[in-house]
Amino acid sequence: MQNRVYPPTICDRFFPLFVLAGLLILLFVLITKNDVEFIKDPLATSVVASKKELTTFEESVDMDLNQYNVKTHKGYVSLEELNENVFKPYGYEIKKPTLPVPTLRMLNEPTCDVVFSEWLRISQEPQPDIPPRQIPVDHANEFLLNNYTALSPWYFNDHSGQAGDHPRNWDKISDLMKSSKIDIAAIAYRTESEAVYNAMSDHRLDGMSGFVVGSMQPWVEVMALQNGARKILTVEYNKLEIQGEFKDRLSSILPVDFVKNWQQYAGTFDFAASFSSIEHSGLGRYGDPIDPIGDLREMLKIKCMLKKGGLLFLGVPFGTDAIHYNAHRYYGSVRLAMMFYGFEWLATYSGESEKPFNLDSQRLHSRGLFQLIHYTAVLRKL
Ligand SMILES: *[C@@H]1O[C@H](CO)[C@@H](O)[C@H](O)[C@H]1NC(C)=O
Repeated sequence: MQNRVYPPTICDRFFPLFVLAGLLILLFVLITKNDVEFIKDPLATSVVASKKELTTFEESVDMDLNQYNVKTHKGYVSLEELNENVFKPYGYEIKKPTLPVPTLRMLNEPTCDVVFSEWLRISQEPQPDIPPRQIPVDHANEFLLNNYTALSPWYFNDHSGQAGDHPRNWDKISDLMKSSKIDIAAIAYRTESEAVYNAMSDHRLDGMSGFVVGSMQPWVEVMALQNGARKILTVEYNKLEIQGEFKDRLSSILPVDFVKNWQQYAGTFDFAASFSSIEHSGLGRYGDPIDPIGDLREMLKIKCMLKKGGLLFLGVPFGTDAIHYNAHRYYGSVRLAMMFYGFEWLATYSGESEKPFNLDSQRLHSRGLFQLIHYTAVLRKL
């Protein structure tokens, strides 16, 4: 059957034309298919985003946000619905319907001056001695993003002095420097902490200067040094006694001093890192001011401090959008979109592999509501 002979037909005369038409159709199909894949693959969107920066206007006219859905605790909702009910009311707008995390623009991005002066104002407001057990009713919609965020109670009072947690191991940095990533991660979040090492060894920090947000123990700092970092400033509420021989590479500053002197630091850092810190900001658990956008405010502060193109290693709980009040937030398609504003999402790491994994919708929601797992995202300041 392999060498069937066909009688010559009229087709033969037009054969070259058919071949040409076939090739054109193939080309068209390939281009269209690629476009669709770009939209669905969050890791690829950055490439398209930068190429198409100039055609934003056309894109926003062309895209039909009803065609894209993301998962929330309410089930699947269209990006059109989220754009109208969440993003626009809270100062954002979908720029590109990337999945599972849409890419946003900010309607009126505050200047760094406003970002830091607002933070300072809020940090100086009087706070209750005991963290509130419930979200203040007048801020419920802001905390829960008009109910697209699930809510469940899980209460802590870790107001300073009550938690019993205090800085440790800052005098044992030379020992930690000789340890494997597994042993270093053992003093923190174990496998979840290994993700930070994996992310940093895949995005080396040779000769770079950076800052770490929130750090009781120097494990993130040590991992950064092991992966080439030259100088690290730790922004921490507690005073840290850093081992002498590391004082040329490591130093610390109180959050309030970092903010008051922001002009000295703005735009100067090559990288920043924060693990299991930002998801708590604004929930009051640690005696911090109640602030529905405490986490988004932190992201804007970090963005101001980084150089253009600077990297952020961000470890937060990933999952379906939710708040365990006042324990922490879980970041899904809705809140991540707001968190990632102004950054390009390069890759996501777990402790399971040295290489990044594809955080698609299935993986993002695989554990169900209120199930805690930190992944580490690598973001690049645009
Ligand atoms: C969210 O749910 C609460 C409680 O059911 C309700 O009082 C509130 O009006 C809802 N908010 C919105 C924006 O629908």
